[in-house]
Amino acid sequence: MRLTMTVNGERLQVNGVWEGESLLYTLREHLDLPGSKNACEQGECGSCSVYLDGEVVCSCLVLAAQAQGRDVVTVEGIGNGDDDGLHEVQRAFVETGGVQCGFCTPGLIVATHDLLRRIPRPSDLEIREALAGNLCRCTGYEKILDAVRLAGERLAEASQ
Ligand code: FES
Ligand code: FES
Repeated sequence: MRLTMTVNGERLQVNGVWEGESLLYTLREHLDLPGSKNACEQGECGSCSVYLDGEVVCSCLVLAAQAQGRDVVTVEGIGNGDDDGLHEVQRAFVETGGVQCGFCTPGLIVATHDLLRRIPRPSDLEIREALAGNLCRCTGYEKILDAVRLAGERLAEASQ
């Protein structure tokens, strides 16, 4: 099967896609975008989160065929081309120690990016609700909360 989709701003054709293949598999194995992680493949952990037409989805639960003609943004597409190529959300996770093994991090980056574009200054409850679908085995979540707060502050300052 051949699919056409826009991935991180680039219109792409993907050949040789199996009918039952997940979008996560296509991104990682056909398009050389290994940022989205495969931890559970059951929609439980959020490590595979990407934007599909602007909505955050678990790419392990989306058939690649469902992305035909649509717009996909992965963690690789979130960087903003600053000096270090990182988005403020990505930078905040690094600075606060919100990244340990890093397996959950791509999904958390996408979920945080989505939260802060919807709610620029979220409360702790709003942060916890927004990240409830993203599991982390390492950090105990406190550093992740710090990262979201820091990114939110910086993005709010930058927009003033
Ligand atoms: S790998 Fe998709 S939700 Fe866990
Ligand atoms: S940093 Fe290891 S699972 Fe979150």
